[in-house]
Amino acid sequence: MAISFDKATKTFYLEGKSTTYAFFINKFGYAEHLYYGTKIGRDPLFYTRGKGGRSCAATVPGEKVDGFEEGSSYHYFPSELAFFGNGDFREPCVQVANEAGDRICELLYDSHEILPEKPRMKGMPSMRGGETLVLHLYDTVSDFGADLYYTVYPDCNVIARRVVYKNCSNKVIRLKRAYSFSMSLPTQSFELMSLHGAWGMERRIQKTHLHNGVVSIDSKRTTSSATLNPFIALLSPGTTEDSGEVYGVSLIYSSSYVLKAEGVNDGQTLLTGGINDFDFEWKLKADEEFETPEVAIAYSSEGIGGMSREYHDAYRNYLINPRFAKKSRPIVINNWEGTYMDFDNEKLMAIASAVKDTGIDTFVLDDGWFGARNTDEAGLGDWYVNTDKLKGGLKTVIDHVNSLGMSFGLWFEPEMINEDSDIYRAHPDYAIKAPGRLPCYTRNQFVMDITRADVRDYIINSVNKILDENNITYVKWDYNRNVTESYSLGLPADRQSEFAHRYALGLYDIFERIIETHPNVIFEGCAGGGARFDPSQLYYFPQIWTSDNSDADERTLIQYGTSIVYPLSSMTCHFSVVPNHQTGRVTDAKTRADIAHLGTTGYELDTSVFTEEDKELTKRQIAEYKEMESLILEGDLYRTDNPMESNYFGYTLVSKDKTHAELTCYQRMGRPNAQLKRFAPRGLAPEKKYYVPELNLILSGSTLMNVGLLPVFERGDFKTVKYHFEEK
Ligand code: GLA
Repeated sequence: MAISFDKATKTFYLEGKSTTYAFFINKFGYAEHLYYGTKIGRDPLFYTRGKGGRSCAATVPGEKVDGFEEGSSYHYFPSELAFFGNGDFREPCVQVANEAGDRICELLYDSHEILPEKPRMKGMPSMRGGETLVLHLYDTVSDFGADLYYTVYPDCNVIARRVVYKNCSNKVIRLKRAYSFSMSLPTQSFELMSLHGAWGMERRIQKTHLHNGVVSIDSKRTTSSATLNPFIALLSPGTTEDSGEVYGVSLIYSSSYVLKAEGVNDGQTLLTGGINDFDFEWKLKADEEFETPEVAIAYSSEGIGGMSREYHDAYRNYLINPRFAKKSRPIVINNWEGTYMDFDNEKLMAIASAVKDTGIDTFVLDDGWFGARNTDEAGLGDWYVNTDKLKGGLKTVIDHVNSLGMSFGLWFEPEMINEDSDIYRAHPDYAIKAPGRLPCYTRNQFVMDITRADVRDYIINSVNKILDENNITYVKWDYNRNVTESYSLGLPADRQSEFAHRYALGLYDIFERIIETHPNVIFEGCAGGGARFDPSQLYYFPQIWTSDNSDADERTLIQYGTSIVYPLSSMTCHFSVVPNHQTGRVTDAKTRADIAHLGTTGYELDTSVFTEEDKELTKRQIAEYKEMESLILEGDLYRTDNPMESNYFGYTLVSKDKTHAELTCYQRMGRPNAQLKRFAPRGLAPEKKYYVPELNLILSGSTLMNVGLLPVFERGDFKTVKYHFEEK
């Protein structure tokens, strides 16, 4: 059993692959954190507890103990779930408003269960399976309970946590805050790392020092956003890519969220977060429960890279649909950058015909095929084929694509509606708007109110009809604006602050009723590029369009940042035309292919103009990709050079058994008389011998990793060199 309970000391030990997470129930019934880090013995850990000397601490309610003998204040107990109103002045995990108007709860140990397998969460995405501890905490005054779920996995160092809040009284309890976890760490000496960004420059790394007080990141956009990814990591002093202790927090949620690290006055750090409590309140009636999103907490003593590998394994093994997670993915040609909305049957069929027999196996028709969609001003919501554009309907194109031996994929943006659409003319109320207020426009469109069941049904029926009537094996699901004027005609006034979370629940319901009823269709996520690249989406979409910015140089930054949490197979990366449509930059075809190969690769350009030479090149590129595909799907990533900090980008991908690997080296600017730059692969087995075809040498792993390689980049900017390592 990976989870054990020592009755004598009331200590829980939760063991991952090489970690221990320990807490105990103290004499007041409080769940008090003891340790999280490298695996240790199941020993008593009380000697680590703070003792005495804290003046002016509020006592535990009713205890007239002066001072801090044996830690007698909720404020100073390292916490598994911090609550508010009785002496703890830190960031609470939960805050309630009881019917009497008081806002106090005191959640103490009631009982626990250890389950061999985690039950599936209701209506929300979460990591699958795993041995699970359910800790029942209870407030006997208000009859309010909190069930804390902890799930551990034998092959990775990630713990999944969440809380289910329960109103066991016969009165209404209003949840003013309902976060997913609290976790204390015994020091404040950390840097906090997070991933910020914007359209076209998603997931840039930023770091700040922790201090007394709260450092937080959040979203108020009813989506996870490109602005701040729902992820933070605490880095111990001196942490590098390869060494140092790192704690990661990755929230499996796609609506407004918050993640916080609080430096507490006794030197501890308290981590907490979940659904953003800004603009949130939830009315919990008698006997109702409130399920919070799951958070995946990772620990690594092997630096930022070690943490990333923990997340990659955890998400590939337990989050992404196993039907697709480690399976070879379609190699698509997507027509968006090739045609935008200006196409007809002939054009689409020419694009597909040109890549027959190259290895591209799926043609994806992007935006512009439905309703009156010729510009972004019209058509969203009218999910029926524009037969003026596509004579003979989708069928003509699909039949043609199929006759080439290829599969067909289609773009949707189901959550959206244009004013200029039949559906808006019939149901203007489907769009989110607040009474008496003018709405904000983004890309000329509104978001549909999917908190409403009738709106969800409309979307589900429209999309399912197209999928059921056509031979479609791939869907690109887009989402191009944020919610404003959060308000639903379907909710009473005292429930309007439930809107953002209800949006997420509505979205998951739609996903479940479309995606799970079409199990053979692979869904690609998208949100104006990578503005909803989060773990909750990965549960439904095995891959996500990483960014609308397809420039190879820019992609080194975007893909590096994205890989901090997300596995390479989850990033769709397309080869596109030059000059690049987003930057105007010209990079050579080898570079574009080498960078697009560091994810789930594909193509996005007008292939109808391909020469025979272009076709041959495409064929060779895909053959090369197929050689390395297993490394993308299942290998370990070692980032060696960070393009956010240098002129270089380096990735080593290593098979789990360390028998083969690849090193991609990239140099941004070519400079005369530049200093010699060695790239050292990582993650090889030091004692193994590897054949390096590029050098025609057999070298040991230790030599390769310690001496490094000295690539000679072609003259010019934006060049790549690759090395292969095969065990001999
Ligand atoms: C978004 C996506 C693009 C493309 C367009 C279509 O911007 O990120 O890839 O699908 O929408 O309108």
